[in-house]
Amino acid sequence: MKKIIFLLGFISILLLTFIDGAVLAQAKKQQAKTTSKNVSCLRCHEQIAKVLPKNHKPVTGDTIASCNTCHRPDMSTKAEPKSYASTIHSGHAKEASNTDCMVCHTYTNNRFGLYKTNISFGKLKKEDLENIKNIFISWAQSKNMDAAHGKANIICSSCHDKKLPETGDAVENDRCLACHGPLDALQKRSEPKDFPDRNPHKSHLGDDIACTVCHHSHKPSTVYCLGCHGNFKMKIPGG
Ligand code: HEC
Ligand code: HEC
Ligand code: HEC
Ligand code: HEC
Ligand code: HEC
Ligand code: HEC
Ligand code: HEC
Repeated sequence: MKKIIFLLGFISILLLTFIDGAVLAQAKKQQAKTTSKNVSCLRCHEQIAKVLPKNHKPVTGDTIASCNTCHRPDMSTKAEPKSYASTIHSGHAKEASNTDCMVCHTYTNNRFGLYKTNISFGKLKKEDLENIKNIFISWAQSKNMDAAHGKANIICSSCHDKKLPETGDAVENDRCLACHGPLDALQKRSEPKDFPDRNPHKSHLGDDIACTVCHHSHKPSTVYCLGCHGNFKMKIPGG
């Protein structure tokens, strides 16, 4: 009887050691995978707590996966500010050399996704990824119109009505007016006191003129009127 108990004890110790070893090996494998992808926030941030707003709950873990659990990606494309999506990007697109989108994103088979989720934002060509990266840098810190929106937590989909804008995309007047309209109020606001008829938003060019004739988002804006009226004094934000 004693012998059997002893044998059972011995076997269970052996088994436990084996299981423990397997778990350890698995964890090591996972860690190696993580490290090689360089997805740890601690690569650049001393502590996770330091990137969180004041009074935010403590967060365990050190990758974007530990944020995804509560901050489920907001897949809406409404014309409204998106403050979490803006905050998470604003610090990370300051300069090209420091702009590693793949800390949080995945890009396989031309699909642009989010680390440790099965969410895909859609298909994206390689050239478009480069373009978008540069536009993010403009949005985060330039003097262009996009950066004024970045500061107000207006991210790409707030203007473009889609998650992944492509080369050649533009934005319709209705979308701008969803936040800046109605048009007659805008016209009233921009009527110059000295020369009321030199109104950029109400002229002989008509009300249907595209906002983007003058307001460029990702490059300096220009006042179209001045091409013909060189003597007018008009200034445009982001110009
Ligand atoms: C390659 C370096 C790098 C990595 C990796 C990195 N960050 Fe950052 N992060 C920065 C820099 C640089 C800033 C801007 C700091 C500043 O403006 O003071 C920043 C800013 C932030 C901000 C904005 C803080 C604020 O108050 O505006 C948040 C949030 C943030 N990071 C979260 C994260 C998370 C979450 C991860 C991991 C998924 C991460 N970062 C990984 C470099 C990095
Ligand atoms: C336990 C749930 C939880 C986790 C995990 C979590 N958060 Fe939060 N976070 C919240 C709540 C709740 C708020 C306040 C409500 C809101 O704005 O969504 C918030 C707000 C924020 C805000 C302010 C957003 C805004 O609207 O201005 C930022 C930035 C933020 N969290 C970043 C992070 C980052 C980065 C991580 C991962 C390192 C993270 N959070 C993980 C629950 C969480
Ligand atoms: C620190 C983590 C982090 C980094 C770095 C990061 N992203 Fe994101 N990105 C996210 C998260 C989280 C979301 C989903 C946010 C949401 O909508 O709730 C997102 C969403 C997006 C979206 C959809 C935005 C929209 O309009 O709603 C685009 C496009 C995107 N990222 C591109 C990029 C590019 C390009 C880079 C590199 C310049 C980058 N991201 C760097 C975490 C990150
Ligand atoms: C204020 C609204 C606004 C915001 C915010 C915005 N865009 Fe744009 N975007 C535009 C407009 C308007 C155009 C049309 C081109 C122009 O005249 O600048 C455009 C054009 C583009 C194009 C096509 C440019 C080309 O080279 O053909 C891409 C790609 C793009 N945006 C990506 C983005 C990304 C990525 C973000 C988020 C970082 C973003 N946009 C945020 C308004 C916006
Ligand atoms: C989701 C809402 C939203 C959309 C869509 C939007 N804007 Fe804005 N826009 C804002 C906010 C918020 C600000 C910053 C606060 C302010 O000046 O009203 C701003 C600022 C501006 C400014 C002043 C920039 C500066 O430097 O002072 C101009 C010009 C502008 N937007 C034009 C446009 C145009 C043109 C479009 C369409 C291509 C557009 N906006 C789309 C919300 C939006
Ligand atoms: C012919 C050029 C031109 C066109 C087209 C144009 N704008 Fe402007 N916009 C300007 C100029 C110049 C200013 C600066 C004058 C001012 O602030 O009143 C300005 C200022 C603005 C401002 C900031 C001032 C404010 O009162 O909010 C917004 C927002 C704006 N435009 C939105 C739009 C929208 C939306 C459209 C399309 C419906 C549009 N613009 C079409 C030239 C133009
Ligand atoms: C393609 C060229 C062209 C563009 C662009 C243009 N105009 Fe004109 N505009 C003219 C011509 C031609 C006349 C009639 C001849 C004249 O009196 O100079 C005129 C006349 C005017 C007049 C009355 C005469 C004067 O000089 O005071 C005003 C005011 C005016 N434009 C405002 C604008 C404004 C504001 C814009 C931009 C929103 C604009 N125009 C864009 C060509 C243009």
